[in-house]
Amino acid sequence: MSTKKSMTLIDNRTNTQYEYPILDGTRGPSVVDLRSFFKDTGMFTFDPGYTSTASCQSEITFINGAKGELRYRGIPIEELAENHSYLEACFLLLNGRLPDKEELTDFDLELRHRAFIPESSRYLFTAFPDGAHPMATLSASVTALSSFYATHLNLESDEEFSEMANRILAKIPTLAAFAYRHYLGIPFIQPDIDLSFTENFLAMMRAYPGHKMKLGRDGHQNITPLEVEALDTIFTLHADHEQNASTTVVRGVASTGAHPYVAISSGIAALWGRAHGGANESVIAQLTMIGSVDNVDAFIARAKDPDDDFRLMGFGHRVYKNFDPRAKILKKLQDKLKEELDLDSNLMKIAARIEEIALSDEYFVSRNLYPNIDFYSGIILTALQIPKEMFTPIFVIGRTIGWIAQWTEFKKDPMSKIARPRQLYTGK
Ligand code: SDX
Repeated sequence: MSTKKSMTLIDNRTNTQYEYPILDGTRGPSVVDLRSFFKDTGMFTFDPGYTSTASCQSEITFINGAKGELRYRGIPIEELAENHSYLEACFLLLNGRLPDKEELTDFDLELRHRAFIPESSRYLFTAFPDGAHPMATLSASVTALSSFYATHLNLESDEEFSEMANRILAKIPTLAAFAYRHYLGIPFIQPDIDLSFTENFLAMMRAYPGHKMKLGRDGHQNITPLEVEALDTIFTLHADHEQNASTTVVRGVASTGAHPYVAISSGIAALWGRAHGGANESVIAQLTMIGSVDNVDAFIARAKDPDDDFRLMGFGHRVYKNFDPRAKILKKLQDKLKEELDLDSNLMKIAARIEEIALSDEYFVSRNLYPNIDFYSGIILTALQIPKEMFTPIFVIGRTIGWIAQWTEFKKDPMSKIARPRQLYTGK
């Protein structure tokens, strides 16, 4: 057993040896440092979809796919979801530690005061038809937001960084709520600085013009603490997830030097796909289409049929080859909410039947296909009287902090370079 931390590659065509250093992280797989591979060999590595590629080093989030483990800045997601608010998770992801009481109060106040958006940017929504999908108007409105603020950021100024971060964090719920209200064709509700981050979002979604939402009374005219707690947990579970597809897009846009808010709107666009964040909306559409427990077996057969492109939405994951820990937390939350909220028992029965089959059927077991976060979030959001078109915008609200933290880390990493992969050319 050699003590050398390196890997030797032999090109058998010429019997040439190449040696590359192995770098260890603080957790998880080591990497082979291949940055000089093309210069040394004149060849590229080949890895469509980056199944074996580390695009960066990062201290923000860690996933152990085999164990179904997720940590933000080293803290297990279960601890954060059970004992901390979404705003505490945001502070943690951005600063590398949880806030003390005073810091949390200041952060909360900062976001409340920044929740308003420039008045003229609200007219952007009128360019879209009523009924326009909220993800389209949300992505467009975040791009528009970039035009209201300085393009150049002084990377050395922590103050400028936190102002850029707090501003978009505070405004995303407002823009998402405006996107929802435009989708319904009803008047916008301005943010209310008397309400917390999550209460405020629910109020901007639900309030009648001129009607001040109150906490505590039941029914969708107001907001119950249980609904706020459920949605706050959902935001925390969605906050960050290593180098997933949309975060890779955000880092790619960061690498060209474009405005941070267009990097976020690019992440929103990427998240919309049903293979990624759009899956939560597709799960509910799929469970509704299946309609009854009796039809589940036929759809499972379709999901297994290589000639049928039907896939079970909410199942499988590039990294988790075990239960998605976020799905486990949502499942517990679903059981907790069962008494209090009107959870759709038919959809829950269908979901339970799909899960029961998938966890025993050889096709799914051999491919390590487990329920992921999107499989359960839709049922809870539906019980919170949130329409499925708002599921991915809610994913955006939760994930914006992760994109901002990853964007900032990219900007401050001396190793960062413009994202420019190569190809295996097979053309004429
Ligand atoms: C999110 O990356 C992240 O971290 C994302 C996310 C985050 O927080 O940012 O966790 C959020 O996007 C969760 C995933 C939501 N997407 C879905 O639920 C859509 C359905 N899932 C699939 O599209 C798929 O599982 C992916 C996209 C999630 C993962 O795709 P991979 O890793 O590229 O795996 P693959 O497509 O190569 O599948 C491996 C095998 C294939 O079969 P074979 O070719 O080996 O015979 O598993 C099969 C696939 O056909 N398969 C499925 C399936 N998912 C994979 N078969 C049926 N139903 C499915 N859902």
